[in-house]
Amino acid sequence: MIDNKKLDVAIPASVDKLQSLFGNAPEVAVVLGSGWAGAVSHVQEPQSLPYTELPAFPQPKVEGHVNEVVVGHIGGQRVIFLRGRAHTYETGDCTGMAGALRTLKTWGVKLLLQTNASGSLRGHMPPGSLMLIADHINAPQRSPLVGEQGSHRFVDMVNAYDADLRKHALALAKRENLMLGEGVYCWALGPQFETAAEIRMFAAWGADAVGMSTVPETILARHAGLKVMGIALMTNMAAGLSAEALTHDLTLKQAQMSGERAAGFLAALVASLKDVAL
Ligand code: HPA
Repeated sequence: MIDNKKLDVAIPASVDKLQSLFGNAPEVAVVLGSGWAGAVSHVQEPQSLPYTELPAFPQPKVEGHVNEVVVGHIGGQRVIFLRGRAHTYETGDCTGMAGALRTLKTWGVKLLLQTNASGSLRGHMPPGSLMLIADHINAPQRSPLVGEQGSHRFVDMVNAYDADLRKHALALAKRENLMLGEGVYCWALGPQFETAAEIRMFAAWGADAVGMSTVPETILARHAGLKVMGIALMTNMAAGLSAEALTHDLTLKQAQMSGERAAGFLAALVASLKDVAL
Protein backbone atom coordinates (compact mmCIF):
# COMPACT_ATOMS: atom_id res chain seq x y z
CA MET A 1 0.00 0.00 0.00
CA ILE A 2 1.09 3.57 -0.59
CA ASP A 3 2.43 5.19 2.60
CA ASN A 4 0.53 8.47 2.25
CA LYS A 5 1.78 9.80 5.61
CA LYS A 6 5.35 9.51 4.38
CA LEU A 7 4.49 10.98 0.98
CA ASP A 8 2.73 13.97 2.60
CA VAL A 9 6.23 15.04 3.67
CA ALA A 10 8.33 13.59 0.85
CA ILE A 11 6.32 15.03 -2.07
CA PRO A 12 6.42 18.73 -1.03
CA ALA A 13 10.14 18.35 -0.24
CA SER A 14 10.76 16.83 -3.69
CA VAL A 15 8.68 19.50 -5.45
CA ASP A 16 10.61 22.26 -3.62
CA LYS A 17 13.90 20.75 -4.70
CA LEU A 18 12.84 20.48 -8.36
CA GLN A 19 11.38 23.99 -8.36
CA SER A 20 14.45 25.57 -6.76
CA LEU A 21 16.89 23.85 -9.13
CA PHE A 22 14.94 23.85 -12.38
CA GLY A 23 12.24 26.53 -11.99
CA ASN A 24 8.72 25.87 -13.21
CA ALA A 25 7.86 22.34 -14.31
CA PRO A 26 8.15 21.21 -17.91
CA GLU A 27 4.82 19.96 -19.24
CA VAL A 28 6.31 16.65 -20.38
CA ALA A 29 7.93 13.88 -18.30
CA VAL A 30 9.47 10.81 -19.94
CA VAL A 31 10.19 7.51 -18.18
CA LEU A 32 13.11 5.81 -19.90
CA GLY A 33 12.89 2.01 -20.06
CA SER A 34 15.62 -0.44 -21.09
CA GLY A 35 16.97 0.40 -24.50
CA TRP A 36 15.87 4.02 -24.38
CA ALA A 37 18.81 5.55 -22.48
CA GLY A 38 20.20 7.11 -25.68
CA ALA A 39 17.33 9.59 -25.66
CA VAL A 40 19.16 11.58 -22.99
CA SER A 41 21.78 12.61 -25.58
CA HIS A 42 19.04 14.55 -27.41
CA VAL A 43 18.36 16.78 -24.41
CA GLN A 44 19.73 20.29 -24.85
CA GLU A 45 21.26 22.11 -21.86
CA PRO A 46 20.72 19.06 -19.66
CA GLN A 47 20.85 19.35 -15.88
CA SER A 48 20.66 16.23 -13.76
CA LEU A 49 19.78 15.36 -10.20
CA PRO A 50 20.05 11.89 -8.59
CA TYR A 51 16.92 10.30 -7.13
CA THR A 52 18.75 10.23 -3.76
CA GLU A 53 18.10 14.02 -3.62
CA LEU A 54 14.36 13.50 -4.16
CA PRO A 55 12.83 11.74 -1.13
CA ALA A 56 9.58 10.82 -2.91
CA PHE A 57 11.46 9.06 -5.71
CA PRO A 58 12.38 5.34 -5.64
CA GLN A 59 15.75 4.96 -3.94
CA PRO A 60 18.20 2.79 -5.89
CA LYS A 61 19.09 -0.50 -4.25
CA VAL A 62 21.71 -1.61 -6.75
CA GLU A 63 24.90 0.41 -7.07
CA GLY A 64 25.87 1.26 -10.62
CA HIS A 65 22.36 1.79 -12.00
CA VAL A 66 21.68 5.30 -13.19
CA ASN A 67 18.84 6.69 -11.13
CA GLU A 68 18.45 10.36 -11.88
CA VAL A 69 16.26 12.96 -13.47
CA VAL A 70 17.54 14.99 -16.42
CA VAL A 71 15.86 18.31 -17.15
CA GLY A 72 16.37 20.33 -20.33
CA HIS A 73 14.68 20.87 -23.65
CA ILE A 74 14.39 19.22 -27.05
CA GLY A 75 13.72 21.87 -29.65
CA GLY A 76 11.19 24.20 -28.06
CA GLN A 77 9.77 21.64 -25.62
CA ARG A 78 11.06 21.50 -22.05
CA VAL A 79 11.17 17.99 -20.63
CA ILE A 80 12.14 15.98 -17.57
CA PHE A 81 13.54 12.48 -18.15
CA LEU A 82 13.29 9.85 -15.42
CA ARG A 83 16.20 7.45 -15.80
CA GLY A 84 15.32 4.42 -13.70
CA ARG A 85 11.98 3.10 -12.47
CA ALA A 86 10.94 0.79 -9.64
CA HIS A 87 9.73 -2.57 -11.00
CA THR A 88 7.21 -4.68 -9.13
CA TYR A 89 9.40 -7.76 -9.59
CA GLU A 90 12.14 -6.18 -7.46
CA THR A 91 10.16 -6.20 -4.20
CA GLY A 92 6.61 -7.37 -4.93
CA ASP A 93 5.47 -3.80 -4.32
CA CYS A 94 3.70 -2.21 -7.29
CA THR A 95 3.48 1.27 -5.71
CA GLY A 96 7.16 2.16 -6.12
CA MET A 97 6.60 5.03 -8.57
CA ALA A 98 3.70 6.66 -6.65
CA GLY A 99 5.78 9.36 -4.96
CA ALA A 100 7.69 10.25 -8.12
CA LEU A 101 4.56 10.56 -10.27
CA ARG A 102 2.65 12.58 -7.68
CA THR A 103 5.67 14.86 -7.31
CA LEU A 104 5.64 15.47 -11.07
CA LYS A 105 1.91 16.24 -11.03
CA THR A 106 2.23 18.60 -8.05
CA TRP A 107 5.18 20.37 -9.66
CA GLY A 108 3.06 21.02 -12.77
CA VAL A 109 3.86 18.26 -15.28
CA LYS A 110 0.90 17.45 -17.57
CA LEU A 111 1.96 14.37 -19.56
CA LEU A 112 3.76 11.16 -18.64
CA LEU A 113 5.37 9.58 -21.70
CA GLN A 114 6.43 6.04 -20.84
CA THR A 115 8.89 3.87 -22.72
CA ASN A 116 9.76 0.22 -22.20
CA ALA A 117 11.27 -2.91 -23.71
CA SER A 118 8.77 -5.63 -24.61
CA GLY A 119 8.42 -9.05 -26.15
CA SER A 120 6.38 -9.08 -29.36
CA LEU A 121 3.39 -11.39 -29.83
CA ARG A 122 2.91 -10.44 -33.48
CA GLY A 123 4.94 -11.39 -36.53
CA HIS A 124 4.40 -7.98 -38.12
CA MET A 125 6.28 -6.40 -35.17
CA PRO A 126 9.67 -8.18 -35.20
CA PRO A 127 12.48 -7.28 -32.76
CA GLY A 128 13.47 -3.65 -33.32
CA SER A 129 9.89 -2.51 -33.98
CA LEU A 130 8.23 0.27 -32.04
CA MET A 131 4.64 -0.03 -30.83
CA LEU A 132 2.50 2.81 -29.61
CA ILE A 133 0.54 1.53 -26.62
CA ALA A 134 -3.18 1.90 -27.35
CA ASP A 135 -4.37 0.03 -24.27
CA HIS A 136 -3.14 -2.42 -21.67
CA ILE A 137 -4.02 -5.68 -19.95
CA ASN A 138 -3.23 -5.88 -16.24
CA ALA A 139 -2.64 -9.65 -16.23
CA PRO A 140 -1.50 -9.90 -12.58
CA GLN A 141 -4.62 -7.87 -11.58
CA ARG A 142 -2.48 -5.97 -9.08
CA SER A 143 -3.23 -2.33 -8.35
CA PRO A 144 -1.03 0.32 -6.74
CA LEU A 145 -4.27 2.00 -5.60
CA VAL A 146 -5.27 -0.76 -3.14
CA GLY A 147 -5.84 0.99 0.20
CA GLU A 148 -6.44 4.46 -1.27
CA GLN A 149 -9.52 6.25 0.00
CA GLY A 150 -12.35 8.19 -1.65
CA SER A 151 -14.36 7.82 -4.84
CA HIS A 152 -11.38 9.26 -6.70
CA ARG A 153 -9.73 5.80 -6.43
CA PHE A 154 -12.20 4.34 -8.96
CA VAL A 155 -10.19 5.60 -11.89
CA ASP A 156 -11.63 5.37 -15.41
CA MET A 157 -9.10 3.41 -17.48
CA VAL A 158 -10.84 3.83 -20.87
CA ASN A 159 -8.52 5.86 -23.08
CA ALA A 160 -5.88 5.79 -20.33
CA TYR A 161 -3.42 6.19 -23.22
CA ASP A 162 -4.66 9.52 -24.54
CA ALA A 163 -6.47 9.03 -27.88
CA ASP A 164 -5.65 12.49 -29.32
CA LEU A 165 -1.97 12.16 -28.43
CA ARG A 166 -1.87 8.72 -30.04
CA LYS A 167 -3.22 10.22 -33.26
CA HIS A 168 -0.55 12.89 -33.03
CA ALA A 169 2.23 10.28 -32.56
CA LEU A 170 1.00 8.12 -35.46
CA ALA A 171 0.86 11.15 -37.77
CA LEU A 172 4.39 12.14 -36.74
CA ALA A 173 5.69 8.60 -37.41
CA LYS A 174 4.10 8.71 -40.87
CA ARG A 175 5.75 12.06 -41.64
CA GLU A 176 9.10 10.69 -40.44
CA ASN A 177 8.67 7.50 -42.48
CA LEU A 178 8.97 5.38 -39.35
CA MET A 179 7.00 2.16 -38.91
CA LEU A 180 5.01 2.61 -35.71
CA GLY A 181 2.57 -0.15 -34.83
CA GLU A 182 -0.24 0.42 -32.38
CA GLY A 183 -1.37 -2.27 -30.00
CA VAL A 184 -2.19 -3.67 -26.60
CA TYR A 185 0.52 -4.06 -23.95
CA CYS A 186 0.16 -6.89 -21.44
CA TRP A 187 1.84 -6.58 -18.05
CA ALA A 188 3.49 -9.74 -16.72
CA LEU A 189 4.87 -9.55 -13.18
CA GLY A 190 8.20 -11.26 -13.90
CA PRO A 191 11.06 -11.49 -13.23
CA GLN A 192 10.86 -14.86 -14.97
CA PHE A 193 9.93 -14.70 -18.63
CA GLU A 194 6.51 -16.05 -19.61
CA THR A 195 5.72 -19.63 -20.58
CA ALA A 196 4.74 -20.35 -24.16
CA ALA A 197 1.23 -21.23 -22.91
CA GLU A 198 0.93 -17.87 -21.14
CA ILE A 199 1.92 -16.08 -24.34
CA ARG A 200 -0.72 -18.02 -26.34
CA MET A 201 -3.28 -16.98 -23.70
CA PHE A 202 -2.21 -13.31 -23.80
CA ALA A 203 -2.42 -13.37 -27.61
CA ALA A 204 -5.94 -14.82 -27.44
CA TRP A 205 -6.86 -12.02 -25.01
CA GLY A 206 -5.77 -9.48 -27.61
CA ALA A 207 -2.30 -8.58 -26.38
CA ASP A 208 0.32 -7.55 -28.94
CA ALA A 209 3.30 -7.03 -26.61
CA VAL A 210 4.33 -8.22 -23.16
CA GLY A 211 6.56 -6.65 -20.55
CA MET A 212 7.24 -6.22 -16.83
CA SER A 213 6.53 -2.52 -16.26
CA THR A 214 4.42 0.46 -17.33
CA VAL A 215 0.96 -0.65 -16.14
CA PRO A 216 1.33 0.30 -12.43
CA GLU A 217 2.70 3.70 -13.51
CA THR A 218 -0.19 4.27 -15.93
CA ILE A 219 -2.71 3.54 -13.16
CA LEU A 220 -0.87 5.85 -10.72
CA ALA A 221 -0.54 8.59 -13.33
CA ARG A 222 -4.24 8.51 -14.28
CA HIS A 223 -5.17 8.58 -10.58
CA ALA A 224 -2.88 11.61 -10.15
CA GLY A 225 -4.48 13.36 -13.14
CA LEU A 226 -1.60 13.08 -15.61
CA LYS A 227 -2.18 12.30 -19.28
CA VAL A 228 -0.32 9.17 -20.42
CA MET A 229 1.36 7.98 -23.60
CA GLY A 230 3.45 4.82 -24.01
CA ILE A 231 5.86 3.42 -26.58
CA ALA A 232 7.21 -0.13 -26.43
CA LEU A 233 10.42 -1.22 -28.14
CA MET A 234 10.23 -4.87 -29.20
CA THR A 235 13.45 -6.55 -28.12
CA ASN A 236 12.46 -10.16 -28.85
CA MET A 237 9.64 -12.39 -30.00
CA ALA A 238 7.72 -13.51 -26.89
CA ALA A 239 8.20 -16.97 -25.39
CA GLY A 240 7.52 -19.83 -27.78
CA LEU A 241 7.36 -17.61 -30.87
CA SER A 242 10.98 -17.98 -31.94
CA ALA A 243 13.67 -20.65 -31.71
CA GLU A 244 15.93 -18.27 -29.79
CA ALA A 245 16.18 -18.83 -26.00
CA LEU A 246 14.97 -15.83 -24.00
CA THR A 247 17.62 -14.16 -21.87
CA HIS A 248 18.06 -10.73 -20.36
CA ASP A 249 21.27 -10.39 -22.43
CA LEU A 250 19.34 -11.00 -25.65
CA THR A 251 16.82 -8.28 -24.81
CA LEU A 252 19.60 -5.84 -23.88
CA LYS A 253 21.53 -6.60 -27.07
CA GLN A 254 18.49 -6.00 -29.26
CA ALA A 255 17.65 -2.89 -27.27
CA GLN A 256 21.14 -1.57 -27.99
CA MET A 257 20.81 -2.36 -31.71
CA SER A 258 17.53 -0.49 -32.12
CA GLY A 259 17.96 2.00 -29.31
CA GLU A 260 19.27 4.80 -31.46
CA ARG A 261 16.27 4.82 -33.83
CA ALA A 262 13.90 4.55 -30.88
CA ALA A 263 15.61 7.43 -29.09
CA GLY A 264 15.52 9.53 -32.27
CA PHE A 265 11.79 9.06 -32.63
CA LEU A 266 11.23 9.76 -28.95
CA ALA A 267 13.17 13.02 -29.27
CA ALA A 268 11.14 14.02 -32.34
CA LEU A 269 7.93 13.19 -30.50
CA VAL A 270 8.89 15.27 -27.46
CA ALA A 271 9.89 18.21 -29.68
CA SER A 272 6.59 17.97 -31.59
CA LEU A 273 4.56 18.32 -28.38
CA LYS A 274 5.37 22.03 -28.16
CA ASP A 275 2.53 22.60 -30.65
CA VAL A 276 0.04 20.47 -28.73
CA ALA A 277 -2.18 21.67 -25.89
CA LEU A 278 -1.61 19.23 -23.01
N1 HPA B 1 8.62 -10.69 -21.67
C1 HPA B 1 8.54 -9.84 -20.62
N2 HPA B 1 9.24 -8.74 -20.53
C2 HPA B 1 10.07 -8.44 -21.55
C3 HPA B 1 10.21 -9.26 -22.67
C4 HPA B 1 9.44 -10.46 -22.72
O1 HPA B 1 9.50 -11.24 -23.69
N3 HPA B 1 11.13 -8.68 -23.49
C5 HPA B 1 11.52 -7.51 -22.88
N4 HPA B 1 10.89 -7.37 -21.70
